[in-house]
Amino acid sequence: MKSSFSLSCGLLAAVCILNGVVAVEYYTQKPSWLPSCRIYEPGFTNCSTHSIQKLLDQVVIGIPEVVEAIGPFDPMHVRNIYFKQDNNEVATISANLTDVMVKGFTKTIIMESRVSKKDFGWQTKVYLPKMRLDATYQMAGRILLIPLSGSGHLYIEIEDLDILLLTTTRLYEKGGFTFNNVTAVRVKLNMSRVHTELDNLFNGRSPEVARSTNQFFNDNWRDFYEALKPLILETVANIFYEIMSKVFHLIPANFIIEDIPTPQQLYGKNQ
Ligand SMILES: *[C@@H]1O[C@H](CO)[C@@H](O)[C@H](O)[C@H]1NC(C)=O
Ligand SMILES: *[C@@H]1O[C@H](CO)[C@@H](O)[C@H](O)[C@H]1NC(C)=O
Ligand SMILES: *[C@@H]1O[C@H](CO)[C@@H](O)[C@H](O)[C@H]1NC(C)=O
Ligand SMILES: *[C@@H]1O[C@H](CO)[C@@H](O)[C@H](O)[C@H]1NC(C)=O
Repeated sequence: MKSSFSLSCGLLAAVCILNGVVAVEYYTQKPSWLPSCRIYEPGFTNCSTHSIQKLLDQVVIGIPEVVEAIGPFDPMHVRNIYFKQDNNEVATISANLTDVMVKGFTKTIIMESRVSKKDFGWQTKVYLPKMRLDATYQMAGRILLIPLSGSGHLYIEIEDLDILLLTTTRLYEKGGFTFNNVTAVRVKLNMSRVHTELDNLFNGRSPEVARSTNQFFNDNWRDFYEALKPLILETVANIFYEIMSKVFHLIPANFIIEDIPTPQQLYGKNQ
């Protein structure tokens, strides 16, 4: 993620100069594109599903404050991934991925957005027709008993991705509004296929073996996915965390859930 987020704000107004562009620190008026819902009324989950889809559509169109903080949405540049897996049946591997670009998130469909009345955590079902990750890799170890070492370009393409996002949040107050502080994101994934190509496997010493190794990984993609699962889960979780944490410091929770309690009402006076 780009982290050159420089912000200077007035104390009284929620308006800041952000790298020379006038941007807001947070919204004080509900944007017209955002439908709001009431959690203590029937039909909330349906309403919230539509509302979160609209919010995401707007992220895709480009919310200036979000683009400024994390860069373009699709393709999206994500932070380097350092991955190490020991003592696993399918893989003992150390991999470093740099220049990581992820594509496909503009097609995200929110299938269902549930919010807990207890702690206001979210459970969101998301569908992505296709996600593709491109990166420069350095790798050493074994996957599916195949000794691997090399460095080069790789891509991983995942089709029909069903994502369950489990988000924990802590409510806080700002300017008389209730906001979500996204504290953790966990993901669960199902997909119909994973396709991978690792260029320059074995450091180019044996292009024939490299080709058949890629073929083998693709023929056995479920096992290959199991080997790389922690890496993929972390990448997807990070992308949603980055987007949600930026968006929800910007847009009051009240604009989505009109009747959300204040932090004081939810946690009591002592917290
Ligand atoms: C779900 O919400 C949409 C948009 O708010 C509405 O058009 C639709 O009728 C709702 N469906 C149900 C089953 O309530
Ligand atoms: C990954 O990067 C770390 C830290 O830079 C390095 O120690 C390690 O050897 C690298 N792993 C591979 C497989 O290149
Ligand atoms: C993945 O599939 C299993 C089995 O069909 C299902 O129980 C689970 O809810 C699915 N998870 C996601 C994230 O779609
Ligand atoms: C959000 O939570 C983190 C810890 O998870 C904390 O460091 C940070 O101060 C919180 N931000 C706000 C605005 O409450």
